[in-house]
Amino acid sequence: MAFTVLAAIVAAAAAALHRYVSGLRRNIAAARKTGLVYLVVPVSPINLAWQLTFWIWVPIIKLLPNSLWERWLFVMIPEWGYATGQTHFDKLGTDTFMVASPGSLVLYSQSAEVIHRMTQNRELFPKDVAKYGILEMFGRNVLTTEGALWRIHRKVTSASFNEKNAAHTFAEAINQTRGMLNMWFGPEGAKTGMTKTIKSLEHDTMTWALNIIGYVGFGLRLLWPGQTLPRDIDPRLAKYGSLDPPPGHTLTFADSVAVMLERIVAIMVFPEALLRILPFKFAREAYKGKINYVQYMSEFLHDKIEETQSGAPPREGMDIMGQLVQSKYSEKAALASSATAKLDDSSIIGNAFIMIVAGHETTANTLHFALLELANNPATQRRLQRDIDALFGADTDPSTWDYEKSVSPMLASHIGACINETLRLVPPVTGIPKVVSHDADQTITVDGKTHVLPAGLACHLMVVCAHRNPRWWPARPSERTGKKTDLDEFLPERWYRSSAAGSSSSKEAEREEEQLDKGDYGGFQGSDVSASFYRPVRGSYLPFSDGPRSCLGRRIAMVEMGAVLAVIFQRYSIELAVDEWAGDAEVEGMNSEERREVYRRAQEKSRETIRQADSVLTLKLHGGRYVPVRFVKRGKERFVSDPMLS
Ligand code: HEM
Ligand SMILES: *[C@@H]1O[C@H](CO)[C@@H](O)[C@H](O)[C@H]1NC(C)=O
Ligand SMILES: *[C@@H]1O[C@H](CO)[C@@H](O)[C@H](O)[C@H]1NC(C)=O
Repeated sequence: MAFTVLAAIVAAAAAALHRYVSGLRRNIAAARKTGLVYLVVPVSPINLAWQLTFWIWVPIIKLLPNSLWERWLFVMIPEWGYATGQTHFDKLGTDTFMVASPGSLVLYSQSAEVIHRMTQNRELFPKDVAKYGILEMFGRNVLTTEGALWRIHRKVTSASFNEKNAAHTFAEAINQTRGMLNMWFGPEGAKTGMTKTIKSLEHDTMTWALNIIGYVGFGLRLLWPGQTLPRDIDPRLAKYGSLDPPPGHTLTFADSVAVMLERIVAIMVFPEALLRILPFKFAREAYKGKINYVQYMSEFLHDKIEETQSGAPPREGMDIMGQLVQSKYSEKAALASSATAKLDDSSIIGNAFIMIVAGHETTANTLHFALLELANNPATQRRLQRDIDALFGADTDPSTWDYEKSVSPMLASHIGACINETLRLVPPVTGIPKVVSHDADQTITVDGKTHVLPAGLACHLMVVCAHRNPRWWPARPSERTGKKTDLDEFLPERWYRSSAAGSSSSKEAEREEEQLDKGDYGGFQGSDVSASFYRPVRGSYLPFSDGPRSCLGRRIAMVEMGAVLAVIFQRYSIELAVDEWAGDAEVEGMNSEERREVYRRAQEKSRETIRQADSVLTLKLHGGRYVPVRFVKRGKERFVSDPMLS
């Protein structure tokens, strides 16, 4: 008896080992066949269980002799591209390589050539939608679908992304930025011209972005602490703006979104019933966030359906929920033939969710990092302020700024350069998963050589690495750190460099582009380009992805970002807080050299903190990391006005 059990265990282990070895063999053979450089690793780096638990295994693996893991361990760490990307591509001596494991074969690339080909040919290299489970838990949506289904989603959702709504966004971003500044300064700060130390901008930038997409996208008025709702507000919408949980809810709407995003991994991994009973804080929060969010959304959907069926006139703004609902519930939709594809309720909620997530955390993080980098780089901040003074005037009232007149010059100024540079260095989306279409093998060209990629191959476009690839970006030796290139530094000035460096390949790219998918998939088609600025080689810069599957909200995001920087820096400066090294009275007594010294310490620490950013959904400061700052009225700076500080 004991013998049979033992035999069964041995047989099962042998079968598992056989599967493991034959899977590994198969994938190594396939990797070799492509002719690309490849690494062999013991577990698939894109396996979800690995990605959730890698932090347990990596230190254990590091106890083994170096020679066993040195070459490949980096690729097993999910955010390796941001943390240390360039050094690994350097060591491997290639911009495109394969990773073979028993469970998968994956291609990683930071080559503009390869990335360009993959983003431009949607049908040959579709999105790897299997990777988007986390963003589909409330329903299928425009970000997570492919093929014919995606076209339906894209058609319904893209309608409201037009210039009229971009103008709306501009005005609302100005309004929300003022709300944020009022809260930061308070009555006290308004008198002294200086805020207290703000420990982290994370929460406030998230609120700022949610308030904008909430209003422009969904017509929901959300508030800053201390604000009150306008008296004439539609009572059905009032509950979303309430600063206390309204009857029937245990969280405010804004908190339900915030908590749900923060706990999104737990919400995805654990079933609701389990979250409900698990005795951990994270589970309680995840449960509460999810339940509240779902309840708000179904009530919102319900109200919109009623509104649509009663034939109410269209609302101002994008009214994303209204558009989605009308596509199914309006009289016109009811009359349309049943063959016309429609979204079901779950897809309506799914798309509403994705617009809130996509339009919120990405923009918030970009603002957060842009502010920190401006605090880190006083010279750039001063230049930004000069441009803003020239564009808008130092004393004008931002609520009078005209969108049509301002938007192009704004994005073609140091404002645009600062946004571009933030998105280059800390892009919220650091990588994009594609797959070789399951229909057929496909080719890519790397350095003039053609390689065949097998159908179904997982491909990871290393956005954050492409952004720092010296092969495609004009670079100079770093003045600050002495490194070989300045590509790891925040230097908006690089956007004024000439495009000559990559021009031959960029001509090639343009020629190629002419033969590519030119379908109209909605969204903003124009450029926010000024001819005199640096034009990245196609495929080397893609914070919004590129091609038909690029970001629907790009224009809105650029407009929001431009507005917030203009409003803040027209009247204020940002400074790193130095409380850790010197109190206010001490700083008061310091001479210029001593002040520079203490500020340099703060700069160093801030840069180190930013280097530790990490992605859950998007790249941000996780794990309680923060950079404390202060805002001061222009003219009242303690540090950043010093021309010797750069
Ligand atoms: C700085 C801000 C933003 C960044 C960096 C960003 C980045 C991106 C990226 C990289 C993608 C492609 C994702 C993929 O391939 O899986 C994407 C898609 C998308 N983004 Fe954004 N985004 C931003 C802001 C916004 C805003 C404000 C909205 C809406 C209000 C938005 C809506 C969308 C949508 C709907 C898609 C899916 C498009 C499709 O697949 O057809 N994004 N975004
Ligand atoms: C923002 O807009 C709302 C509604 O129009 C208005 O009540 C509020 O005063 C504005 N806030 C600021 C700070 O301008
Ligand atoms: C920002 O980047 C885009 C490329 O996405 C470029 O076309 C534009 O000119 C850049 N703007 C500035 C001010 O450099």
